[in-house]
Amino acid sequence: MVGVKDRVVVVTGAGGGLGREYAMLLAREGARVVVNDLGGARDGSGESTAMADQVVREIREAGGDAVASYDSVDTEEGARAIIGTAVTEYGAVHGIVNNAGILRDRAFHKMTAEDWEAVLRVHLFGSYHVTSAAWPYFREQRYGRVVMAASTSGLFGNFGQANYGSAKAGLVGLVNTLAIEGSKHNITANAVAPMAATRMTEDVAPPEMLAKLPPEQVAPLVGYLLTEECTDTGMTLVAGGGTYYRVQPFQSAGLRFEQTPSMDDVAAQWHTITDMTDATPGVNPVG
Ligand code: NAI
Repeated sequence: MVGVKDRVVVVTGAGGGLGREYAMLLAREGARVVVNDLGGARDGSGESTAMADQVVREIREAGGDAVASYDSVDTEEGARAIIGTAVTEYGAVHGIVNNAGILRDRAFHKMTAEDWEAVLRVHLFGSYHVTSAAWPYFREQRYGRVVMAASTSGLFGNFGQANYGSAKAGLVGLVNTLAIEGSKHNITANAVAPMAATRMTEDVAPPEMLAKLPPEQVAPLVGYLLTEECTDTGMTLVAGGGTYYRVQPFQSAGLRFEQTPSMDDVAAQWHTITDMTDATPGVNPVG
């Protein structure tokens, strides 16, 4: 059996939605969980201790072990405090789920720099800060598990989500490099793009679709990625409504020009360059 028993796991944004489900499952499986949540609104405004406290209460009432953390992921100090809570309360940190997130959807022509920055700050910078604060502990103990909350909006794009999609695609990029740098220290990093009915999606997807996407159906995948038994790394997975699958960039066979081509040469070969018929998994030619 795979497991997380006695592991110390930090789940950011665990005061509701998907994060709450991750925290509840991990606690049921015997992990000691830091339930972090700033307790603000969906757009990132406001804060309160109530959301994290409520989830901690539920976990404890069910016989689990959890502690609340109310710091924001979006600053270096906040992230250090979150990881500090794990270390102070439980003496270690073994896994992190970078799940905290906000939404400021607007068509690109209406998006303000503030909307752009606020979303990048929480998702991309926040995940960076928390991972960066945990990384020295992972290296020192030669063990760590990182899960990033990605999104199909980052992988494929979505109207009105230029800020959000960019942040989420950035997290996949971060995972790709963390997987490489973590490999010799037994640290894995993977991204999960969930699909679930939460306050974040309540007016984004139609109700009949949301009815088929209970958030608890995503949690076992995140839980598995946090186990010692799962050593796969650098993967991006999509999970929702009981369906789990992996997404990976592929590259076309393409062609090699013997001399620097003209733009007309590119146009003439466009079909061959972009044809994905014989595509293979993408690799970094300088990696
Ligand atoms: P949610 O709004 O219920 O959960 C996000 C949580 O993060 C909230 O409890 C919020 O208080 C917390 N949070 C926000 N800013 C924070 C900060 N600076 N520091 C600490 N906590 C903060 O939404 P949901 O759906 O549960 O989202 C969880 C993650 O999954 C997010 O990263 C989201 O982008 C991602 N996701 C969700 C999808 C879905 O279908 N629900 C689809 C794709 C991605």
